[in-house]
Amino acid sequence: MIDIDNVVAGYSAEIDILRGMTLQAQGAEIVTLLGPNGCGKSTLLKTIAGYLLPRSGRITLRGEDVSQIPVHRKIRHCGLGFVPQTDNVFSALTIRENLQVGGHYLPKAECARRMDELCALYPVLARKMDARAASMSGGERQILALARALMPRPGILLLDEPSAGLSPKVLHEVFDAIVHVRNQERVTILMVEQNAMEALRISDRAYVLSMGAVALTGEAGALMRDEKVRELYLGDRAH
Ligand SMILES: Nc1ncnc2c1ncn2[C@@H]1O[C@H](COP(=O)(O)OP(=O)(O)OP(=O)(O)O)[C@@H](O)[C@H]1O
Ligand SMILES: [Mg+2]
Repeated sequence: MIDIDNVVAGYSAEIDILRGMTLQAQGAEIVTLLGPNGCGKSTLLKTIAGYLLPRSGRITLRGEDVSQIPVHRKIRHCGLGFVPQTDNVFSALTIRENLQVGGHYLPKAECARRMDELCALYPVLARKMDARAASMSGGERQILALARALMPRPGILLLDEPSAGLSPKVLHEVFDAIVHVRNQERVTILMVEQNAMEALRISDRAYVLSMGAVALTGEAGALMRDEKVRELYLGDRAH
């Protein structure tokens, strides 16, 4: 469960980027965050993960107030997986090594078992275990980033634009993998996306953000059908 209550945060003392952000996600659901460039979507994920600490407001994960816990403790302590918008794999390392980094906290045998499990799920990884991540295509890299975050079996997954730069076909492969994580691993997923319509198709609910706060929220299907939402926020690309 993710409960963000009236969170204010920013990078410098004078400027607030998140200006009273309030949202929730719980159980096995995909919640998508939409909104224009610069409105604070990545900042919100970074604040939930603990790269930034809120100035005020509360972040509760799985029932525990973790507002002031920094990232290095939070990822392990809260069962949190985070795939950032950029630099989400270690290019110089092999696929196997990337997965080992993700499973860093696990006992060795458990790490190996989990790696086998994820390779069975994502054959593209199994085929190239000893190749460097730098040699992967964009879509393969997103799958690796997802698998790396899944190594310690997180209960909560934060994904920042997992479909960025992908062709429609590969986008669907990555989104299928995300749906599988929700359905099979029962993970609560908070996902930032620019491909709004495609993202809403696989989401349960969504929030539209504007200038560091929630402008509107609703069930994904209802938002997709809402003419005004389509026109104002989604560029009406659904036809
Ligand atoms: N590391 C940083 N230091 C200072 N300001 C930052 C930093 N990262 C982001 N910002 C500022 O915070 C604001 C929100 O940025 P953020 O990255 O959260 O936007 P976003 O909604 O994810 O945008 P995009 O859709 O382009 O990824 C922007 O004005 C940006 O310039
Ligand atoms: Mg961003």
